[in-house]
Amino acid sequence: MEHTPALEKKLIQFSGIKPTGSLTLGSYLGAIKNWTELCEEYESFFCVVDMHSITIRVDPALLRRNAMEQLAYYIACGLDPEACTLFIQSHVPAHAELSWVLGCYTMFGELSRMTQFKEKSAKNADNINGGLFTYPVLMAADILLYDTDVVPVGEDQRQHVELCRDIANRFNGVYGETFKLPRAILPKVGARIMSLTEPDHKMSKSDDRDPGSVLLKDPDDVIMRKFKRAVTDCDSERCVRYDPENKKGVANLMSIYAAVTGKSFSEIEREFDGKGYGVFKPAVGEAVCGVLRPIREEAGRLLADRTYLDSVCAAGAEKAERASRRILSKVYKKVGFLPRPR
Ligand code: TYM
Repeated sequence: MEHTPALEKKLIQFSGIKPTGSLTLGSYLGAIKNWTELCEEYESFFCVVDMHSITIRVDPALLRRNAMEQLAYYIACGLDPEACTLFIQSHVPAHAELSWVLGCYTMFGELSRMTQFKEKSAKNADNINGGLFTYPVLMAADILLYDTDVVPVGEDQRQHVELCRDIANRFNGVYGETFKLPRAILPKVGARIMSLTEPDHKMSKSDDRDPGSVLLKDPDDVIMRKFKRAVTDCDSERCVRYDPENKKGVANLMSIYAAVTGKSFSEIEREFDGKGYGVFKPAVGEAVCGVLRPIREEAGRLLADRTYLDSVCAAGAEKAERASRRILSKVYKKVGFLPRPR
């Protein structure tokens, strides 16, 4: 008799990016590249987390444009809307609904300790709003709604994923097994890409004009210029050697090169032995252009087809809505909300 193996249920990955600005090489190497690599093995949900963007003041028209552009870039980076669920957070009300409930199981002290809250409130001293403070609760809701096993993120989001686990664990302790406990997955190289001009600071998408940030939409000549001007170090050695303590700029460029070519640090050291930064920096630029060019061109084609992008949005919202309702109903029941009579 023929043996039919039981259909194995895939583990689930969930992740998201705030559409606060244009996607950077940091967002790609720290997050999206990893998502695409895990897609085959995991059932996948990727969200454009627009509700997270309004903790700081943003222009509404710009937010809408960035959100759609980000969705196009998700697809252009290789996320297939047929194979995974791509959606916009504000299209799925369960995120805000679960966030309220989880907020009641999150401690003031826990939220006060979040590094990102401390940094952002220092930067926006005139607008330290409640949303900025409770932001990690909404992020926990995003993750927990989909029965997520793994959350592929860059280094800066690890603390938020750990808090999400703590919240889930606390809820499970009160009401019995409800949520899976998700864990963060970080890329081996590229988990923290630094600014090309200030290698002490993370490469950030907040300011499009920042010469230290490489944007996925930057044309080749702009990318090359940014890499040629990248800060290396001022030691007399001027050699390509991985030393993140003393040669931060070079270590950052080596990480970028390693992430886009798949080469190890020792291979890179050998490749540029005796060649100096004048050869190394443009080589990193060329390698990055090689990876970003097809993505940029594909995103351009997709953005010209708004009907297609709208259809991806609609289908994604429907799939996400269906998947998230199951967990939300379970939570509502557990905490004691009266079911709505039919
Ligand atoms: P966000 O939008 O700041 O960043 C999106 C993702 O990109 C990674 N990343 C980087 N990785 C390496 N080097 C960099 N310079 C760099 N810059 C950004 C981030 O670590 C992140 O993985 N709170 C999240 C968004 C979010 C989310 C979620 C993520 C909301 N809900 C649920 C995962 C699951 C954020 O602000 O990421």
